[in-house]
Amino acid sequence: MYRSVSCNSLRKEHIGQTVTLAGWVNSRRDQGGVIFVDLRDREGVTQIVFRSEENKEATDASHKLRGEDVIQVTGKVSARLAGTENPKLATGEIEIVAAELRVLNKAEVPPFPLDDPKVNEDLRMEYRYLDLRTALMQRNLKLRHRVVKATRDYLDEAGFLEIETPILSNPTPEGARDFLVPSRLNPGTFYALPQAPQQYKQLLQVAGLEKYFQIARCFRDEDLRADRQPEFTQIDIEASFVVENDIQTLVEGLLARIFKESAGVEIPTPFPRMPYSEAMGRFGSDKPDTRFGLELVDLTDVFTASQFKVFASVAQGGGVIKAINAKGAAALLSKEQLKKWEEWVKTECGAKGLAYVKWSEGGEWESPIVKFFSDAEKTALAGRMGFQAGDVLFFGADAKLEPVCEILGRVRLRCADLLGLIKANASKLNFLWVVDFPLLAFSPEDNHWVAVHHPFTRPKADDMAALHAGEYARVRAVAYDVVLNGVELGGGSIRIHERELQAKMFEVLGVNAEEQQVKFGHILKAFSFGAPPHGGLALGLDRLVMLIAGAESIREVIAFPKNNRGCDLMTHSPVEVDFKQLREVYISSTAKKS
Ligand code: AMO
Ligand code: AMP
Repeated sequence: MYRSVSCNSLRKEHIGQTVTLAGWVNSRRDQGGVIFVDLRDREGVTQIVFRSEENKEATDASHKLRGEDVIQVTGKVSARLAGTENPKLATGEIEIVAAELRVLNKAEVPPFPLDDPKVNEDLRMEYRYLDLRTALMQRNLKLRHRVVKATRDYLDEAGFLEIETPILSNPTPEGARDFLVPSRLNPGTFYALPQAPQQYKQLLQVAGLEKYFQIARCFRDEDLRADRQPEFTQIDIEASFVVENDIQTLVEGLLARIFKESAGVEIPTPFPRMPYSEAMGRFGSDKPDTRFGLELVDLTDVFTASQFKVFASVAQGGGVIKAINAKGAAALLSKEQLKKWEEWVKTECGAKGLAYVKWSEGGEWESPIVKFFSDAEKTALAGRMGFQAGDVLFFGADAKLEPVCEILGRVRLRCADLLGLIKANASKLNFLWVVDFPLLAFSPEDNHWVAVHHPFTRPKADDMAALHAGEYARVRAVAYDVVLNGVELGGGSIRIHERELQAKMFEVLGVNAEEQQVKFGHILKAFSFGAPPHGGLALGLDRLVMLIAGAESIREVIAFPKNNRGCDLMTHSPVEVDFKQLREVYISSTAKKS
């Protein structure tokens, strides 16, 4: 037996008992020959005291203990001396007077102090097994477990079956690049790792399983960010005979259960629904952070006859002018900083410019363009924007609505950060559904229409005529994203279940009949054997746990994540493989790892 209790189990009522504990030396203090060791295991910390007069052998040995040594201690639970209790520690009223010490394994000095928040992330990743010993990481992984447990319980109670789907599979059109795996048994062919189990979960509906879920590992070869990993996990859901609202209600219930059981937080349901066009128009984002205002305001009509030619020509040409009011930002933005913001929108956001008007307290309107505005324009502008001394207005103007919204959406978030609005609203949980997404978007790079969600998403019944008439920009999808505090937590849709409509959709996406057979013949065929109406959604588990944990990156809630170059700094994956292994899968590699 290694231990009789954990390091978080002993309280006052256990005084007098003899117990055995095992764990890691969290710290050791020598106070005039009396040695105090904080012993740590997964559950907590217990203080051990070694005194020569009680046990000379163990006390002598305890002098040599170092942080992270693995030890076993047997001793008596005793009350701490009056005044030395530690109210911050669950076991802070007691200590163990050591009778026996066994060193189970010695530890080298760790390469960084555990629990130091300033440690370089690369170092943490190289020694991830040490990093995971910290209280924060242990808390995050326990939280992740509870989220998954609540998910399984809730979906099981709702009649959903957990079904695994293949990892070695076919390319799935979710919009990212595939990871490919060469097949040794079938020379020259490749599996793709699933970007999502999308087709399999639909095929399970054709198979009559009706309610499916999976804690599904997904793989996407895309550029990485704080909330994107090359492999990540979805709570993946699909059901038959459902409409949009059925899935949304199910997911609201699931999120409520998860927040309750993992964080003790009640979240009100149902969540507000906001059409995509409204989200873009008011917040400049399809995942709006609604915890603060700074909304986009349309000013196109104000500037139709303006002397400022940029605005006048955009307004007269059927384009859009919008602005946001960064309330109280004047004191925080110097002329030089405003210049830098202008550079930033041009280089990072592809904008043509970022016109502004700054109104310092007790000052005049400052702006390179305000000299062109008429009095009537100024009055209309001030009225519509609620412009007051202390504020800064930012403008976007373009022939097209979407870029104006997207650019101002990014400026809005930057203003919110500058004004401390994100920090000030950190405790709010603003859930919402963004609905009525466009079905298709024209891709100038590919020179054809692409699916906004994925090719299996159903067009809205009302817009079916527009689809058949080729007015693709007007067709909306029965698709919905669930958003929390400006993060896209999940997305889903009601699907196409008719063979002809699916084939039509592929055709619109530029997949010809022959290609359809090669790539999607299986799903088209399946749809001709009695496919039920169906739909679903996938939540990003990593993002969900990140938000509950209050973490800044999903790397903080994944045991062994990759860095932003897709590398595992602990195992050094990906690695070069030897020629023989490559030859076995019919690959000749030329590139060398740099
Ligand atoms: P979608 O592509 O929107 O939908 O993905 C669903 C959710 O998965 C999360 N997510 C990611 N998390 C971490 N790293 C990534 N690289 C990453 N990519 C996506 C997001 C996202 O909202 N098959 C459809 C779902 C469906 O239609 O049912 C799908 O995968 O939180
Ligand atoms: P210009 O006339 O190009 O010198 O621009 C005057 C100001 O208007 C500068 O601050 C530009 O950044 C800004 N500006 C120019 N084009 C646009 C645009 N399309 N949208 C928003 N601001 C613009």
